Amino acid sequence: MPLPYREVFKDISPYVPGKPIADVQKELGLTDVIKLASNENPFGCSSKVIDVFKENAMSEVAIYPDGNATVLREKLAKKHGLKPDQFIFGAGSNEIITFIAQLFLNADDESIYATPSFTWYDTAVKSTGAKAVTIPLKDYTHDLEAMKNAITDKTKVIWICNPNNPTGTIVTSEQMKDFLENISKDIVIVLDEAYYEYAQGDNYPETIPLLDKYPNLIILRTFSKAYGLASLRVGYGVASSEVVSYLNRIRPPFNVNSLAQMLAVTALDDQDFVDNTIKKTKEGLELLYKAFDELNIPYVKSYTNFVWVETPLTAKEAFEKLMKKGIIIRPFFENWIRITVGTKEQNIKLIDALKGIL
Ligand SMILES: Cc1ncc(COP(=O)(O)O)c(C=O)c1O
Repeated sequence: MPLPYREVFKDISPYVPGKPIADVQKELGLTDVIKLASNENPFGCSSKVIDVFKENAMSEVAIYPDGNATVLREKLAKKHGLKPDQFIFGAGSNEIITFIAQLFLNADDESIYATPSFTWYDTAVKSTGAKAVTIPLKDYTHDLEAMKNAITDKTKVIWICNPNNPTGTIVTSEQMKDFLENISKDIVIVLDEAYYEYAQGDNYPETIPLLDKYPNLIILRTFSKAYGLASLRVGYGVASSEVVSYLNRIRPPFNVNSLAQMLAVTALDDQDFVDNTIKKTKEGLELLYKAFDELNIPYVKSYTNFVWVETPLTAKEAFEKLMKKGIIIRPFFENWIRITVGTKEQNIKLIDALKGIL
């Protein structure tokens, strides 16, 4: 007898993470393997985080975490000049994406996002039974005009990945203001800013000050990227107190573990680490651009710690050939691959490998 799986899950594929280093080592018998596939921080995390981890790793294992993430909440509220009840925490910002879809989408609603963009929107939206309305990128960035034109009276949530994963492009401050101004305030707009720290400055929008004017905004940030805490799983959403009070109704009681909370607090105390990460990432991007130019490989200038590259090979071929040289990148479709910016040594290894395979 078939089990009663919900129909919507027939159209959803499991999330495919970047291939783990250990798998490649085992499959190919390589010892020296680097992973430039999941946009993690190649510089690790703050040494302060490591010290606090060593002192506290086992101290509260038998005790549930603080379900309210009080210390982290208060610290972030102070940092951003907001009320503590404007923050929702998740086991990564990934989890908050799921909460948002569950909170706002009914089966016959519609939700709009770009393609290609972060794939979890797709899973989160489709699992509610709502219709996913996907709008192709224009010049590798969000086509806000087309997204606006796709709005119907069934549209409940619009997702903007800014900067966009996998292309690394941004919606600028001007474009964002114009877009928000022209969207009805009863449509929820999610601004996924997982790579905020890398994009900050120039014409990248500072969106937290916009919350007062646009109570339909939810801003997502994470400790997984510039702070280097990906394995701990901690991210947060910033929104009106009302939206947060609803999101909290879906959030499992102890979803962010004690260590993640404690180390996120510590990470916030080491801005030098983040600044250094950004500086080295930008240097790494320049090194990669120069090599791509020399190799005649088209790429898109990035506001993140990864770069969207069009190789002369198919994405699959490029992935396999680089893997044999001990480098894991992320293949997408056609000739497009996404490469995370590594340390200087890793970037040089990648460039040498590209020279070898092309
Ligand atoms: C655009 C974007 N949003 C959200 C996430 C989720 O990050 P996390 O769940 O680690 O906070 C990622 C991770 O790669 C991402 O690229």
